[in-house]
Amino acid sequence: MPRKRSGRVIAVMGCQFGDEGKGKIVDYLAQNAHIVVRYNGGNNAGHNVRNHLGDFKLSTAPVGIVSGVSGQIQIMGRGMVWEPRHLVSELKRLESEGIDISGLRIDEASHLIMPWHISEDCSEENRLGENKIGTTKNGIGPCYADKMRRTGLRAGDLLDSNFSERFTEIYNYKEKIFKGLYGHPFHDAIAKLYLKDNLEENLSYLASRFGNLDNLICDTPPILWRAIDQGQNIILEGAQGALLDIDHGTYPYVTSSATGAAGASQGSGIAPSDITERIGVIKAYMSRVGEGPFSAKASEHDEKKLRELGQEYGTVTGRPRACGWFDTISFKRVARLNGLTGVAITRLDILDEFMIIGIRERESGMDHVYGWGPEKGVRGLRSWDLLPERAKDLCERIACGYKINLVSTGPSREEIINVRRKK
Ligand code: IMP
Repeated sequence: MPRKRSGRVIAVMGCQFGDEGKGKIVDYLAQNAHIVVRYNGGNNAGHNVRNHLGDFKLSTAPVGIVSGVSGQIQIMGRGMVWEPRHLVSELKRLESEGIDISGLRIDEASHLIMPWHISEDCSEENRLGENKIGTTKNGIGPCYADKMRRTGLRAGDLLDSNFSERFTEIYNYKEKIFKGLYGHPFHDAIAKLYLKDNLEENLSYLASRFGNLDNLICDTPPILWRAIDQGQNIILEGAQGALLDIDHGTYPYVTSSATGAAGASQGSGIAPSDITERIGVIKAYMSRVGEGPFSAKASEHDEKKLRELGQEYGTVTGRPRACGWFDTISFKRVARLNGLTGVAITRLDILDEFMIIGIRERESGMDHVYGWGPEKGVRGLRSWDLLPERAKDLCERIACGYKINLVSTGPSREEIINVRRKK
């Protein structure tokens, strides 16, 4: 079938350990999007957005939901896992903040995080002791494990009249496994809370907001294919980052989903060939929350300064993040793996306060370059030409030859440089 192919389909992905500032970049790009699809992860993510509608923290709903674009559809793709209670409380909060949530759709094949997943996540972390992964304890890994084991519950199951029976059947099965593994039955506080909290209540809230659950939970790829055929713009929104990817990250200190371009295709239902751009989001320095290796260590003094200036504390868990300098060695690998067409550099303004900035360009160690200093600060700048030469040089060095699409110079939507110069 001949297609009108003028639309942009842009996958936006993290290239570090998550927390690169993808929320801000997706919010900026979402202004021109007909559809925004979140393709992986669950409420382990914490996306911050500051725009004309306010300050928002999102973890399950796609960032597009606060973009304020009328008629836009936001899809929770089939690569996602989601916890009904959590989604409902996020949506209620957004509504109380004046956000229209009617554009939300949930793919029927996305998986449900159930109380046993949260229990298992916590019990596993305890069992591992000092070898723990440092997960967000939101049940993400166990939910994806059940998906692969084919013992998961999916969003579409909620539409089935037999849902209660399936829920009870899996609950009993999980309880047996639990007893064998951890020596105690599966009836801990989390499960009780969940049941008391009443799943049905949460579902009836969703049904009331969307007419019925069928309007919310549906087969979403055809919506996307139609949009592509009509030349509409689509943003594919990733969560976490490449170094936490299940296949390409620092295993076992990873999350349990595919965070990159391949995940964007698989987790949304858009063919790889229909994705027109792959934008890697890179923070001008690095951070990591949870356990696992961290290649770009800064001095203790600089680490502390980066953490405080950048407020590098986990959005979901509040844990202090390890902070360090940009690592071009890992970035080059990530860029190749994902076939990046360009990059969005974030949090350049945090480096305003540093006269010496580190950058890892060799396997064996760290290089240092001169900063531009606070009197020439980049905070809020909106044009590439206004950047100090040293800031431009740093951007070029960390982009490693990839096209620089955007440079973020502050948390608000307007604090951004849309780089239009010729390379
Ligand atoms: P999980 O995704 O909760 O299983 O956690 C696995 C690892 O990924 C842990 O190190 C978490 O701290 C990390 N992680 C998960 N989600 C995010 C995120 O959105 N930003 C940063 N780190 C994350």
